[in-house]
Amino acid sequence: MYLSSEQERMLGGEMGTATQRLFRLLVRLGDVYGADRMIPVGSVQISGVSYKSIGDPGLEFLEDFAAKGARAKVLSYLNPTGMDMCAWREMGIPDDFAEKQMRIVEAFKTMGVITTATCTPYLAGNLPRFGEHVAWSESSAVSFANSVIGARTNREGGPSALAAAVCGVTPEYGLHLESNRQPQFVVEVEAEIRNTADFGALGYRIGEIAQDKIPYIEGLRGAYTDQLKVLGAAMAASGAVALYHAAEITPESRTVDPSGLERITITRKDIDEAYRSLNSADEPDIVILGCPHASIREIFEIALKLEGIEIEKPLWICTSRCVKRMADEVGLTERIGAAGGRIVADTCMVVSPLEDIGYGCTGVNSAKAAHYLPSFCGQRVVFLDTDELIRRIAK
Ligand code: F3S
Repeated sequence: MYLSSEQERMLGGEMGTATQRLFRLLVRLGDVYGADRMIPVGSVQISGVSYKSIGDPGLEFLEDFAAKGARAKVLSYLNPTGMDMCAWREMGIPDDFAEKQMRIVEAFKTMGVITTATCTPYLAGNLPRFGEHVAWSESSAVSFANSVIGARTNREGGPSALAAAVCGVTPEYGLHLESNRQPQFVVEVEAEIRNTADFGALGYRIGEIAQDKIPYIEGLRGAYTDQLKVLGAAMAASGAVALYHAAEITPESRTVDPSGLERITITRKDIDEAYRSLNSADEPDIVILGCPHASIREIFEIALKLEGIEIEKPLWICTSRCVKRMADEVGLTERIGAAGGRIVADTCMVVSPLEDIGYGCTGVNSAKAAHYLPSFCGQRVVFLDTDELIRRIAK
């Protein structure tokens, strides 16, 4: 692989041992995937942040790199942590978990990473342009960046994203190359997609079929940004879809040619089957919305739905701290609070220790959350659209 003189210096250890070790990781990755060179990245999003996911070995790894002087040189954000960093006591998070989680975030802060912890960095100030190379980790964020924005990223692991943050580059392979961004089959959506949960169910079905292939989706009408993020998140959960094209909607759909590709059709039966496979209960102990992290529009819409309603079970809406601050400022947090709900920042239903807090059955409107909650949090799942979930917990 061609390396610039600065990169040779990183590899030789002139910029410190932490940078050297992280750059070596990038070189190894590039060698494995046949990259010819390194390319600069405009931003980074780092996964492996929740103490629940990385445990003590992850914490030690991060503290070690922070102590050895690893420092981010490009704008780098975090994936969600295991708790609301301010209101963790109200969430019922155990003290020892909170202490370790804070040390993890502190280590990232020492490394110069922006500690905004979210899977929707593009809603919180980290918005790449079309065609920009970035190194993001979280699968739904990767899907959104590639598909909806038209930026270019592979799905990085936590260590390779940290390496990109510190070294400012990533090896050029996979979805960084134009030739690897072509669709591989066409999905014709014949089913009527009625609401956000339906977008998740549709994505879930497409992901099961696609696995790691790139679909070209026809027949999506009137999808707005939040629904596209839900669609992509579900595809990346049931499959490993890191890029999709939606005809007339996503930017690269106009530049690729789907003619002659294999075609499959999705009907209402497929959508209903996705609901059946993801539901395992009827009555939730708690409803948690905001997977991927909610936008201000989604929070506004939830506030409208809660108008005049009192709920009798907990309702959390997960989002980034930036978006929560906006909701606080414009009175949405208060309106949701008046109905009995709360906005929870920095974390989500899957990466928080929900099972230790005492919940056994969670209601969600996200197919991705419905997919991971049983295995990650030992939850039974009620997967429905927001209106129906609210109805089930209303007094
Ligand atoms: Fe984000 Fe957690 Fe869902 S990281 S995509 S809210 S599972």
